[in-house]
Amino acid sequence: MKTDYQAFSFTTEFFQNPYQFYEKLRSMQPIYRGNLIKNPGWYVTGYEEAITILKDKRFKNRIPLPEGSKKYEQLKNIQKDMMLFKNKSDHRRLRFLVSNVFTPKIVEQLRPSIEETVNELLQPFQNQKSLDVVSDLAFPLASLVIARIIGVPKEDLFQFREWATSLIQSIDFTRRGKVLENGDAITIKAMDYFNELIRIRKLNPKEDLISKLIMEEQQGDKLSDDELLATCILLVIAGHETTINLISNSVLTLLNHPKQLMKLKENSFLIDQAVEECLRYESPTQMIARVATEDIDIHNTSIKKGDQIYLLLGAANRDPHKFHNPNQFDITRNPNPHISFGNGAHFCLGAPLARLEAQIAIKTLLDWKKNIQLASSNLKWQKLIGFRSLKELPIIFD
Ligand code: HEM
Repeated sequence: MKTDYQAFSFTTEFFQNPYQFYEKLRSMQPIYRGNLIKNPGWYVTGYEEAITILKDKRFKNRIPLPEGSKKYEQLKNIQKDMMLFKNKSDHRRLRFLVSNVFTPKIVEQLRPSIEETVNELLQPFQNQKSLDVVSDLAFPLASLVIARIIGVPKEDLFQFREWATSLIQSIDFTRRGKVLENGDAITIKAMDYFNELIRIRKLNPKEDLISKLIMEEQQGDKLSDDELLATCILLVIAGHETTINLISNSVLTLLNHPKQLMKLKENSFLIDQAVEECLRYESPTQMIARVATEDIDIHNTSIKKGDQIYLLLGAANRDPHKFHNPNQFDITRNPNPHISFGNGAHFCLGAPLARLEAQIAIKTLLDWKKNIQLASSNLKWQKLIGFRSLKELPIIFD
C-alpha cells in the first residue's frame, strides 16, 4: 500500500506545488529513507543536512543511468565524460579548464551583448499585446548566449531546444524507456554536430570556448577528444533549461506578488537581491543526487555504502531552521544563502552567467511595458522532479 507521501508525489497537485510535500517530508525526517522515485534512497529536505552532504567528498556524483546496464550506450558514454558526473582529480582537471570562461569578471564583459540581445528579442513585440516569456524571451536568450560562448553559429541554434529538452528529461529522475530512447538518439545527433564543429575549429580557430579547449587538448593530456565533446554537450544542457526556468519562474513569481513587484520597479537597484530571492523561492534545479562511497554517520543517520542520496534543493531553500518565514517571497531578504546552484566541489560553474542573464532580462522586461499581467492563471509545469520548469508563461501588456 502506498503511504500518503508516495501517493501525493506524482500527482498534478505535486507538480503544481511541490512545497507542501517537501514540508511534510521534512517534518518526518530531514534525511528521510524512502522510495519516492524508482530506487530507494535518502531524501534530504533539511538545509544543514544538504550542505553537509554536498561538502563531504565521501558522497560522490555518478552518472544517472546504472553503469552496468547495456542500454542507452550513447547517453551513458557521453555522461561519463561530463565534469558534472566526474569526481576527484578528473573533475578538478576538467572544471579548471572551463572555469576561466565563467568567472564573474569575464561574464560581466558580456553585459552589453546580453542587453542588446534582450532588446532585440522584445523588439518584434513592441506593438503587440502579448508574448510567451518561455519561448519568446527566456529560451532564445539562453540559447544565443551559450551558443556565442561555445562558438555555435546562430543559424544552427534551431536544434538546441529539442536537444536541451530531451537531454534534460534524460537526466531527470522521472526518466523512463521512451525518454531515454529519445535521449540516446538525440545524443548521437548532438555528437555528430559537435564533432563536425570541432573539426572545423581545428582547421580555423576562433575566439570561442571550443577553440580554447582544442588548444588545451593539443597541449598534452589535459583533455581527451571525448571529454571535449562531452563538455560542449554538457554546456548546452546546463546553460539552457535552468536559465530558462530562472527567468520564467522569476517573472511568474513577481507577477504573483504585486507589492514586491512594485517595490522592485520603484527601487531597481534591488534587482540582484530579487533574482536571489527568485532562485530561493522557485529553485530552477529542485533535486540532485549523490551516492555514498562508504558507511557514513551524519546528522544522526547511518547511511550505508552504495546508498543513493537525493538532495531536494527546493526544499532546503525553504527550511524554516535556516530561512525566516521561508514561504514568504521577500526581495529584500538578506542574507539569502540559498543553495540553488548547489554547493561544494560541483557548485554551478554558470552561476555568474545565469544571474546576469536573469537580472538583465527581468529588469528590461519590467521597464519595457508598464502594465504587465499574467495572461492565464492556469499555468502548466513540466512533469519533472529535478527541475521546476513552466511549459509556457503567456503575459499581456498595454
Ligand atoms: C539558473 C540557472 C542555473 C542553475 C539553477 C544551475 C544549477 C546547477 C546546480 C545545482 C549544479 C550542481 C549539480 C550537482 O552538484 O550535482 C550545477 C552544476 C553545473 N552547472 Fe549550472 N545551473 C544554472 C545555469 C548554468 C549555466 C548558464 C551554465 C553554463 C553556461 C551552467 C553550467 C554548469 C556546469 C558546467 C555544472 C557542473 C559543475 C561541476 O560539475 O563542477 N549552469 N548547476
